[in-house]
Amino acid sequence: MKVLITKMDHLGRGITKVNDKICFVNKALPEDELEIKIIKEKSKYLEGEIIKVIKPSPLRITSKCPYFNDCGGCQYLNLTYDSELKIKENIFREILAKYGSVDDNIIKKMVSINEDFYRNKVTFQVENKKLGFYKYNSKELVSVDECLLLNKEINKLIKPLQELVKKENISQIIINVSNDLKLKMVQIKGEVTDYTEILKLVDVLIINDKVISDKSSITTTLLNNEFILGKETFFQVNKKISERLYLQVVDYIKKLSSKRVLDLYCGVGSISSSIAPYVEKVIGIEVSKEAIKNAKKSKELNHIDNIDFIAARVEDSLNVLSNDIDTVIVDPPRSGLLKKVVNELLDKEVPNIIYVSCNPITLARDLKLLSEKYIIKEVIPFNMFLHTYHCESIVVLERK
Ligand SMILES: C[S@@+](CC[C@H](N)C(=O)[O-])C[C@H]1O[C@@H](n2cnc3c(N)ncnc32)[C@H](O)[C@@H]1O
Repeated sequence: MKVLITKMDHLGRGITKVNDKICFVNKALPEDELEIKIIKEKSKYLEGEIIKVIKPSPLRITSKCPYFNDCGGCQYLNLTYDSELKIKENIFREILAKYGSVDDNIIKKMVSINEDFYRNKVTFQVENKKLGFYKYNSKELVSVDECLLLNKEINKLIKPLQELVKKENISQIIINVSNDLKLKMVQIKGEVTDYTEILKLVDVLIINDKVISDKSSITTTLLNNEFILGKETFFQVNKKISERLYLQVVDYIKKLSSKRVLDLYCGVGSISSSIAPYVEKVIGIEVSKEAIKNAKKSKELNHIDNIDFIAARVEDSLNVLSNDIDTVIVDPPRSGLLKKVVNELLDKEVPNIIYVSCNPITLARDLKLLSEKYIIKEVIPFNMFLHTYHCESIVVLERK
């Protein structure tokens, strides 16, 4: 059937209507006239697939990535970077208004650096002895020899890893590279009988959670600090934008004259360490024991002595939210804050909250709840994950 795409959704899909039902079309752009076929029918929506572009959107360009049409990794490589930024920022604003009732005037322009080859981490899938990414909404693999999201050291490893997966029985490979591009950690899931060649190319090799190499972690840098990354540790994937993000957190901490800060969901302590020179005390809480062990080591490496790191679930440790905490930073996973955590924040009289989010939908939900007792002062979106629908942001809230 023939359709006209009217706008895009938060997952980077084109939106149209078919028989009065909303229909999402992958890789479709606003004003595209398309011939599509319906591939999924649900009670509330349909999903369509492009058969032919009848009249392309004026925004449409030829993707610089040869895998773009098939690969599920990116959404915005068929338009210019300026258009990507405008569309992402508008979608972010719409979500915050619709689900969070956030006043559009307090949302700043999206912070962005237009640069490919930015990611320091990747998870490759392996199917039929080939390595790559899944297609959109599928377990079908698109095998790749290069990816313009990944930094050059990860790209250099693709060829030898394609050779390895041909010979072995592997299901997944995760790669982390330090931000100075010097150290590489590779984690393989599956059966590997001969790892001698790959071991020569990397600093840390882990096969099914077993450390094969001499070292079990790599050291990476962010702003002026060093951090140790182990096999399970979360770390921001885009160095330049995360530095801008953390400098923004530092700026807020200075403006708020924060003294005693709680850094919830602190990972290896990258936010805690960035703000430490400007405050009296930071307490960082994180569920991963490995991340906290490395956060404590990083603290020594960086000569910081005013942070306490606690390995615990945030929802079980809110007793630390005592009266002398003046600022709480939260940087939760994509699922956002648990209701229990929101309620605790509402109950305690903490003057300031800085909310760092990687999911506008759960952020908007949480802001709506928090706005019962907090004024949302400022929101800044960051294009951390270029060419994909994902969006990072910071929000500052002040107790009413
Ligand atoms: C988005 S990351 C933020 C990490 C850190 N702030 C940073 O910028 O690198 C979220 C972190 O929350 C941790 N986490 C997830 N659920 C948690 C929970 N219930 N309690 C404490 N930490 C949790 C994850 O292990 C992860 O390190």
